[in-house]
Amino acid sequence: MSDLDVRLGKVAQRYGTPTYVYLTDAIEDRLNRIRAALGPWFELSYAMKCNPNPALLEWLAGRVDLIDVSSVGELRLARQSGWDPLRASFTGPGKRLAEIAEAIDCGVGELVVENLREAQIASRLAGEAGRTQDILIRLAPATVPKGFGDHMAGRPSAFGFDIETVDQDLPAVLALPHLNVVGLHIYSGTQCLKPQAICENYRIFMSVFRDICERYDITPRKLVFGSGLGIPYHAGDTALDLDEVADGIRADLEAFRAEPRFAASRLILELGRFLVGEAGYFLTSVVAIKPSRGHTIGICDGGMNNHLPASGHFGMVIHRNYRMHRIGGGEATDKYNLVGPLCTSIDRLASAVMLPLLAEGDVIALHSSGAYGPTASPIHFISHTPPREVLMTGDTMRDVSVHRDRIPNGIGDAGA
Ligand SMILES: Cc1ncc(COP(=O)(O)O)c(C=O)c1O
Repeated sequence: MSDLDVRLGKVAQRYGTPTYVYLTDAIEDRLNRIRAALGPWFELSYAMKCNPNPALLEWLAGRVDLIDVSSVGELRLARQSGWDPLRASFTGPGKRLAEIAEAIDCGVGELVVENLREAQIASRLAGEAGRTQDILIRLAPATVPKGFGDHMAGRPSAFGFDIETVDQDLPAVLALPHLNVVGLHIYSGTQCLKPQAICENYRIFMSVFRDICERYDITPRKLVFGSGLGIPYHAGDTALDLDEVADGIRADLEAFRAEPRFAASRLILELGRFLVGEAGYFLTSVVAIKPSRGHTIGICDGGMNNHLPASGHFGMVIHRNYRMHRIGGGEATDKYNLVGPLCTSIDRLASAVMLPLLAEGDVIALHSSGAYGPTASPIHFISHTPPREVLMTGDTMRDVSVHRDRIPNGIGDAGA
């Protein structure tokens, strides 16, 4: 058995399934790799929407510079998990007045202003509190390079100021008395596995930053590059080569930073899945095997309710199977449709996936499940037991579940 399967098997035995496992050593490796390749230019900000587990946040607080929150709920979680609000930026297109008020009141680092309304509210509230609030202005570029499957550039979107019409609103934002523009923010696409497309996208960012900063005479303290760095989810996906990204962008970044206006700017990579996605596994057990009309269905104890992305309903146009394996290994000899326990035909984890011959009780591990797992899933649908979450460092494992108080039974726990 592989070392990984020994570890995952221990978790399944101790805690039962369905369970998410987050391997901190894998995140540590990832951090080291990002810093080795891109550290000369970039600081890191963790986009906590991808995984707001408090124990993970706590673990990250001592290891990552900054955090991005997208609601007051996230801001509170981050604070409770040891993050100084000064290290937080607050993005999101629909911030309510009470959220803006709380963020300003607790001393959030920067409010990422996405429209004029937010800016006006923030200025008024900051003024009433007798202070000036730092803001980043979020810009929505007109283009992303080919290769960004998942993007929001050049189309109608709720996010940030459209670059084509930014001149209509920006003067008004800059004139607001109680805001201090510390920089600009762009996040226009995600899940890109092509180094050259990422480099091209960063060139677009730099050109937008340059243009806006020159025209409005902004000398930014911070510039956020919403990272776009993708991870392999499916068979045939190739992991992103960070050294190729670094080689492709080095000269442009050096030239950018040599410009006096940007010489003191902190460049920030805001990223979620690339940091924690591949460090997470989702473990689900086979409850039953049903032959049906020439196919074999493996019915599992956790499906779409625990892992919406794997079911293809989270940013995927055509369902493709996540990479997965049966714990304990074995040759993939048999073809299965894997489904979850929900009473809906859209609850599927895999179609025609090749696995070893499955039996009741076998545990399947879905890969790349550390981001957009529980937080992005309809956990309460049909009141199945929510998944556990386990943080694992070496052989030490800790139950860090947050979703288990709603359902009045422990079905699925080891031994139940
Ligand atoms: C503003 C912002 N920043 C960062 C992220 C993180 O994206 P990813 O997990 O693809 O790195 C998101 C994801 O939606 C986002 O909306």
